[in-house]
Amino acid sequence: MRAVVATEPGGPEVLNVTDLPDPEPGEGEVVLDVVAAGLNRADLLQRQGFYPPPPGASEVIGMEVSGRVSAVGEGVSGIEVGDEACALLAGGGYATKVAVPAGQLLPVPPGVDLVTAAALPEVAATVYSNLVLTAGMRNGDTLLVHGGSGGIGSFAIQLAVASGVRVITTAGTAEKRAFCRDLGADVVVDYHEEDFVEVVREATDGAGVDVVLDNMGAKYLMRNVEVLALDGRLVVIGMQGGTKAELDLNALLRKRAGVIATNLRGRSVAEKTEICAGLVKDVWPLVAAGTVRPIVEGTFPLEQAVDAHRLMTEGSHTGKILLTT
Ligand SMILES: NC(=O)c1ccc[n+]([C@@H]2O[C@H](COP(=O)([O-])OP(=O)(O)OC[C@H]3O[C@@H](n4cnc5c(N)ncnc54)[C@H](OP(=O)(O)O)[C@@H]3O)[C@@H](O)[C@H]2O)c1
Repeated sequence: MRAVVATEPGGPEVLNVTDLPDPEPGEGEVVLDVVAAGLNRADLLQRQGFYPPPPGASEVIGMEVSGRVSAVGEGVSGIEVGDEACALLAGGGYATKVAVPAGQLLPVPPGVDLVTAAALPEVAATVYSNLVLTAGMRNGDTLLVHGGSGGIGSFAIQLAVASGVRVITTAGTAEKRAFCRDLGADVVVDYHEEDFVEVVREATDGAGVDVVLDNMGAKYLMRNVEVLALDGRLVVIGMQGGTKAELDLNALLRKRAGVIATNLRGRSVAEKTEICAGLVKDVWPLVAAGTVRPIVEGTFPLEQAVDAHRLMTEGSHTGKILLTT
């Protein structure tokens, strides 16, 4: 197979296409002939040498793909060679073939083409597992999601709005703020010019938000706690603003609030299988109905992974960036 590998830790230019042995399906696995792979922010960290794959996972970058089943391992039932699917991976996506546990395979939702389906697994699983399963977000809640125009943010806005949740979000440019409003965000904060704490206070008459989905980590920790309502939950999924900060436990205690930090990639196959089953039950019908849609900024051939990584690093994109084989 062909695969994109980082020849050494470094900038986008270290990515090169090379030939590697084809994967064989282990027990409970299938092999997909990859049609498209989604980029995720963590891919940039892995390329730089800061985010190694979990034990046993492929060293090849890439946490989500779409494609066609080309081999089925022992113990797998209900999946046949030729089936089209998308898949959540612990690694190995930037390649023409990848082995994946059968439980992490997802059907392509009706109305979504096979290339675009690669934009779904990682963001859908991250947003659903954190907002619905971990934070217990429900109809009538208010959500603050940072970075509303990115891959995760754009999906989070849509899933929350579809669930009857009021959304406040942050974005860095006027164009991105308009994009977030089009997705259904009620209030959009210019994070360069405005203090989101003040905006949330005003927008919620001082009550705060029930859930915060955060990509910034240390930089926003205390301000995120400040905007939480009574019994609010802050879920940290990214550390774009650093890893270490002080937390005033009294501020949490007074609100009976919770701070949770989670990681999808390191979860067991059993946990990912459960999350994927939840996606098919709760989220795929919304995608099939067009209520929640995968948003793709651009697609690049696998050979141009360097350009795709440059685009994500520069940060002008909205939604997802894909590689095609
Ligand atoms: N823990 C997990 O399991 C997990 C899984 C998937 C993703 N993640 C994390 O989720 C985050 C988003 O990933 P992605 O793939 O969606 O990346 P992405 O598309 O590149 O999105 C990054 C977002 O960060 C926003 N941002 C940058 N500086 C900001 C600031 N000061 N305040 C608020 N927002 C800011 C950007 O907003 P502008 O474009 O408006 O500047 C952009 O929307 C990353 O931190 C990633 O590591 C975690």
